Amino acid sequence: MLFWRVKPLDKILETAGKKALTRQLGAFQLTMLGIGAVIGTGIFVLTAEAGQKAGPAMMIAFIIAAVVCALAALAYAELASMVPVAGSAYTYTYGVLGEALAWIVGWALVLEYAVAAGAVSVGWSGYMNGLLMHTDLFGLVEKGSLALPRALRTGPFDGGAFNVLACMIALVVTWLLLIGTSKSAKVNAVLVSIKVAALMAFIAISLPAVQSANFEPFFPTGWGSPMGGIGVLGAAASIFFAYVGFDAVSTASEETRNPNRNIPIGLIGSLLICTIFYLLVGYGAVGAAGSTPLFGADGKALSPGTPEMAAACALVSNADALVCSKEPLAHVMRMIGFGGVGNMIGLAAALALPSVVLMMVYGQTRIFFTMSRDGLLPEVLSRVHPKYHTPHVITIITGVFVALFGAMFPVGILADISNSGTLFAFIMVSIGVMILRKQQPNRHRPFRTPLVWVVCPLAVAGCLLLFFNLSLYTIGLFFIWAAIGLVVYRLYGYRHSDLARGITTAEGGEVLPPEPPFHEGPQA
Ligand code: ALA
Repeated sequence: MLFWRVKPLDKILETAGKKALTRQLGAFQLTMLGIGAVIGTGIFVLTAEAGQKAGPAMMIAFIIAAVVCALAALAYAELASMVPVAGSAYTYTYGVLGEALAWIVGWALVLEYAVAAGAVSVGWSGYMNGLLMHTDLFGLVEKGSLALPRALRTGPFDGGAFNVLACMIALVVTWLLLIGTSKSAKVNAVLVSIKVAALMAFIAISLPAVQSANFEPFFPTGWGSPMGGIGVLGAAASIFFAYVGFDAVSTASEETRNPNRNIPIGLIGSLLICTIFYLLVGYGAVGAAGSTPLFGADGKALSPGTPEMAAACALVSNADALVCSKEPLAHVMRMIGFGGVGNMIGLAAALALPSVVLMMVYGQTRIFFTMSRDGLLPEVLSRVHPKYHTPHVITIITGVFVALFGAMFPVGILADISNSGTLFAFIMVSIGVMILRKQQPNRHRPFRTPLVWVVCPLAVAGCLLLFFNLSLYTIGLFFIWAAIGLVVYRLYGYRHSDLARGITTAEGGEVLPPEPPFHEGPQA
């Protein structure tokens, strides 16, 4: 039953065979690609959440999340290099574990991509709201006069009513994708430089302001307990979000020279560089501004993204608390007397984060597209627009949901939900790598996971550890989502899938024009 309706890998590869990309990426470009895809809301915004969950020990959380990600990345890269086609973990699972599990992975990837896009939209809105509040437009307007009313700055769980900016950015990005905007190498390079420059400026200014007293107590919330969503492990489970996106490297294996050498360098290199950045940023933020968590009347640390936390943050006494900030890096700069740099960092986040939203929504539409082409979702979803050649139906549906997620929910809740889906997908991929090594040992593997029997079990264990340190609420939502998914599958995909009807992708369904290589997309 488990390996039921496995889609032969060779059939999947027939689709891949239609596009032949030149192998031109080296280790350096891959590392840059990874850094560009990874740095986003996680470090710019979730630093405050991690501070609330773990206090100064959030730095340990950064390391734990990085190690789990690196292990999963090595497993991911083997399947990505063997099956270099759209759909990522969903397609890999279809080829190894069969349709039912592939469906569940695809369904979980909705959390990874669409919900994450919502999270990044909310992160963007935090910085935009901060900018509107603190700018005087070089003396043209009075400072604060551009700020939105409080009710329109955050969603209902976070002290507001409707996060209008998060909703807006999601809709703008959806429109860009609809008219065919793609990932452009030049724009990507500029945005990576902006993000890295902002983080470097933050580190350079915050480090001299570090005070050792701000690191006491180092473990104010302990390690945390399973399903508690608090403590160092709870913070690691949340901050995991800051490392997601490295699959941009694994999925570029087809375009990589000597992938066996360069893919692991690109993956581990980008994760290592991001980890060093994150640790320095975390050290500077905690050391310069302090990150004392807020506790409830019962003596327990409050959970970020809850009405209780929003109420505590509304108190005047907590107005300057780092753990309450929606734009923590800019906030730290303002607190230590560098308001201008704070605004520049806010501007950098405002410029760079939309590209992360774009990549996430793009990823989601391509996964839905692939699932629809496989017959697991209605055919109408994979219709391609006659003029723009984009899957417009699914892009609009995805965009509307992302906009609603962004308008209604706090960033930390969305990031945690997204992590639950990503961790599940990584677990399936790591198991898939091991099964395939046994089932098809001789199949060509452009990249082989080193020490596979150590790395893959550790990746599964690490992902499980993080998964079960999310909050009970998040884990519950994940299982409810999975259960809904199974019902939808039983009612639709089970009967309509191409495999059920005896046809395969290679024979039918719409095919999108080949994707331009990431590093030289033609449009901005
Ligand atoms: N790693 C990406 C971010 O932090 C998803 O925004």
